[in-house]
Amino acid sequence: MTSSPDIALSVEGLEVIFSDASGVVHALSDLSFNLAANSFATLIGPSGSGKSTLLRVLAGLVPPTKGQFHFHNHHDRVGLVFQKPNLMPWRRVAENVSLPLELADVSKQEIDAQAHELIKLVGLEGFESAYPRDLSGGMAQRVAIARSLMHDPDILLLDEPFGSLDALTREVMGDELLHIWQAKRKTVLMVTHSISEAIYLSDKVFVLSHRPGKIVLELPVDLPRPRTPDMRYSPEFSSLAHTLRDELRG
Ligand SMILES: Nc1ncnc2c1ncn2[C@@H]1O[C@H](COP(=O)(O)OP(=O)(O)O)[C@@H](O)[C@H]1O
Ligand SMILES: [Mg+2]
Repeated sequence: MTSSPDIALSVEGLEVIFSDASGVVHALSDLSFNLAANSFATLIGPSGSGKSTLLRVLAGLVPPTKGQFHFHNHHDRVGLVFQKPNLMPWRRVAENVSLPLELADVSKQEIDAQAHELIKLVGLEGFESAYPRDLSGGMAQRVAIARSLMHDPDILLLDEPFGSLDALTREVMGDELLHIWQAKRKTVLMVTHSISEAIYLSDKVFVLSHRPGKIVLELPVDLPRPRTPDMRYSPEFSSLAHTLRDELRG
């Protein structure tokens, strides 16, 4: 198994086959890749190519049929963010963010301090006492991101986190996510359907094939950081977008 201080996660020969009464689905096949420590990677591919399955395997929610994966950091905690924020409607923002630490052996004081820091980081200072019903879609997703960081994961896994937001909010959230990533120095793996979002955010884009999903392209993105909105109109950006579009169209 590949091992290097610069690698946060290695995946080797991963295969997932679901079988139930209705039949057998070969979701992932011979999937191998490494994630560089502290890098931002995105995963893009056709619907049903096994992107969510991969994240669920890495989060320990689905056992692989074959193959293995290994987190190289001191602990293998992952933070998870889905398309729906899944907030508890009867809990205030601060109480939703605190949730992951409530069952841990951590003092109330520490939990409150940590929640406050993260709420500030995601730009929701002043909304600690608001209820989910009073938040916009983008704000609710900020709460979900803060909650996913509460237990200080090494790797953040995001499954189409901005998929239900309007285009402009989505761009703003992308910039916010880069800001959070730079502040917390996490390794990120994010699923997206958007070619431009993938390029704008990533150090590397992984393209999955049709089911059973395997990686058909690893595209490094060498645009300078910090990324700025005008980079979306640069020739380098267009050329990367072309490459991805060609690959996705087969
Ligand atoms: N728990 C499950 N049982 C059976 N089939 C599943 C299960 N989870 C996902 N699948 C199937 O695996 C394939 C990949 O699904 P998914 O990982 O959700 O794809 P994506 O996120 O790329 O759209 C799909 O055909 C889906 O129906
Ligand atoms: Mg999915």
